[in-house]
Amino acid sequence: MQNRSSFGSKFGAIAATAGSAIGLGNIWRFPYITGENGGAAFIIIYLICTILIGIPLLLTEFSIGRYTKRNVFGAFRVLKPHSHWYFIGILGIATAFVILSFYCVVAGWTMSFLAESVVNNFAGKSSLEIQDSFGKFVDSGWQPIIWTIIFIAMTAYIIISGVEKGIERYNKILMPVLFLILLILVGNSVFLPGFKDGINFLFKPDFSKIDGSVILEALGQAFFSMSLGMGTMITYGSYIRNNDNMLSTAGSVALTDILIALLAGVAIFPAVFSFGISPTSGPELVFITLPNIFLQMPGGYFLSLLFFLLLLIAAVTSAVSIMEVLAAYCTEELKISRRKSGILIAVIIMAMSSLCCISQMPDSAIRIAGMNLFDLFDTLSANYMMIIGAFLTTVFAGWFMSKAKLRNEFTSGGLYGVKLFPVFIFIVKFVAPVMIAVIFLSKIGLLRF
Ligand code: PFF
Repeated sequence: MQNRSSFGSKFGAIAATAGSAIGLGNIWRFPYITGENGGAAFIIIYLICTILIGIPLLLTEFSIGRYTKRNVFGAFRVLKPHSHWYFIGILGIATAFVILSFYCVVAGWTMSFLAESVVNNFAGKSSLEIQDSFGKFVDSGWQPIIWTIIFIAMTAYIIISGVEKGIERYNKILMPVLFLILLILVGNSVFLPGFKDGINFLFKPDFSKIDGSVILEALGQAFFSMSLGMGTMITYGSYIRNNDNMLSTAGSVALTDILIALLAGVAIFPAVFSFGISPTSGPELVFITLPNIFLQMPGGYFLSLLFFLLLLIAAVTSAVSIMEVLAAYCTEELKISRRKSGILIAVIIMAMSSLCCISQMPDSAIRIAGMNLFDLFDTLSANYMMIIGAFLTTVFAGWFMSKAKLRNEFTSGGLYGVKLFPVFIFIVKFVAPVMIAVIFLSKIGLLRF
């Protein structure tokens, strides 16, 4: 596979992988999941999961990808040809479809809110009116569908443009812009009357709120946020050049991902407390609360514009990475051209996202396990599919993959982090699989303490 694409530089690789990790998961999902799970204590567990399991798993996925230079399905076929381990690849591909289906809907809401912000449509509305208009927007079904379709087309365009000219190029421009916008919003938040309450909520832990299900949420959020357990980092890892230091790439990505989530919390919670909004408002948190908040602030017009632009940038760079899992599979395994793959995937996702939107209409009959498709896909991916995918990946790497190959990738051919390798192997072999299994089994009730 000599002509296979790769990222052109280390910065490009970091920008792209950070672009995948930093997304709606940090700015939309992290605040509302933190809000629902009690704040600071949840954050501490999320940080432990990210550092102890997330970073080693990221390195494992990078190693598998860079060694095999294949998509998620092909990678396991190359490593264990006559076995069933390629199941991890199939699960990854299924997860990519499930996540994209609801992720693109939220991205569609973001586009609509950005458009509303541009024409200053929130101005002069009461907070009830804003809440009401978000409800009407979602209830209509067709409005979110249109925005979602536009978003998917945009994402497919970047995918079709290629790894270096599409993915890497846009990430290199967009990620620094995202960081700058977030800093402006955080700077603004410091001056709000609810700053202290917001910070206390985020950083003062109350451990009485922690139970098995909070821990599973934290682990799920850690994987979701770092794009783990479904082959995205295997696919991106396959584009990292052989002599790039993978350890520092993974470290920078993990730290930026954590930093952005915390900064998003600092940008959002002081505002939530300043204007008496409940931190437990669920998935609508940023969409219902923030326009309200912006309305009441000086310079709110620009802040609202910046915020929804931030959210859109975060969404597109992550959606691109999920779509790339599918595109790499189609081009390498099914031998379909990149262009045709992009179009095919986009059409399927458009149909699935539209179903999500329809299932959110008030009298929709589409309900599974008491949930509409949107909520079902959100929970199913983060709390089940990615957890199972991550578990199987660590078991595979720890127990069934050649240590020499893993070591060679981890250390980039003996160049970096040689001393850390035994620690890494210990975590991948024992700590990560046991922790993931215990957390998962206790959540589904098969294990009790
Ligand atoms: N990490 C992304 C976020 O935090 O928004 C979401 C995501 C991207 C999940 C890629 C999974 C994935 F493969």
